[in-house]
Amino acid sequence: MAARLIDGKALAAQVRAQLKPAVEALAARGARPGLAAILAGDDPASHVYVRNKVRACDEIGVRSELHQFGADVSEAALLERIAGLNRDPAVHGILVQLPLPAHLDGERVLAAVSPAKDVDGFHAENLGLLTRGTPRFVACTPAGVLRMLDHAGVPLAGRHAVVIGRSSIVGKPMALLLLQRDATVTICHSKTSRLAELARQADVLVAAAGRPLMVGAVMVKPGACVIDVGTSRTADGKLSGDVDFATVRTVAGWISPVPGGVGPMTVAMLVENTVRATELSLA
Ligand code: GUN
Repeated sequence: MAARLIDGKALAAQVRAQLKPAVEALAARGARPGLAAILAGDDPASHVYVRNKVRACDEIGVRSELHQFGADVSEAALLERIAGLNRDPAVHGILVQLPLPAHLDGERVLAAVSPAKDVDGFHAENLGLLTRGTPRFVACTPAGVLRMLDHAGVPLAGRHAVVIGRSSIVGKPMALLLLQRDATVTICHSKTSRLAELARQADVLVAAAGRPLMVGAVMVKPGACVIDVGTSRTADGKLSGDVDFATVRTVAGWISPVPGGVGPMTVAMLVENTVRATELSLA
């Protein structure tokens, strides 16, 4: 039997639509949510992602402002702009699009964002809160994956979840979220031996390695839920996931596609976090 499709595009539209009443309620209190997006350099994919984020905000009445810098921007200039945005009461959420140009210290830049406006959940304080089990802002991609799992009714408690990838923006927070939901979690990465064997034990498999088509049907337990976080570009510019969709869908119980899976959910969760940041600023 073919896997059930987890349609991230449709779910993201639903999440955005459900945020509208909250945005209207905030506006009625004189607090229109505002997001500031910082984009440094000329990475074409980053430009597309930021444009999608700004558009998603506009669509539901969240004000957005784009702060664009050249690839040669100094760290001091970036830090100064972030400090200004931290002070600006009309800005409730700040995101720094990654990757940053190589000469910048990404950790120092992310640390400069006020944790109360850190709608990407990248600040050490927010990662720490998630680790402690009392999250405030959770990184948008793993938060979106969890929402997809819940929407599809995928059981997590007591199940074995395998996360492929250990980045601070996807793999690690994803593992922590699954752990918080009582899954037994294995994190795999580029140095993991017997990756296929571990993956095949997963009831829930989250592929976030950034290696196109690395998860084939032989790595998937029949009936498992497979979520594809990969967003690599092929030579002809097409988006490719980490999962070989055509073969894995014949084995899996659930599967999310690329495109139209996790990507739109990342954007929807950013908007949701921005609305929450606005609410928290009034609390
Ligand atoms: N680069 C890749 N994914 C993300 C994300 O979720 N947020 C930001 N700011 N940059 C990214």
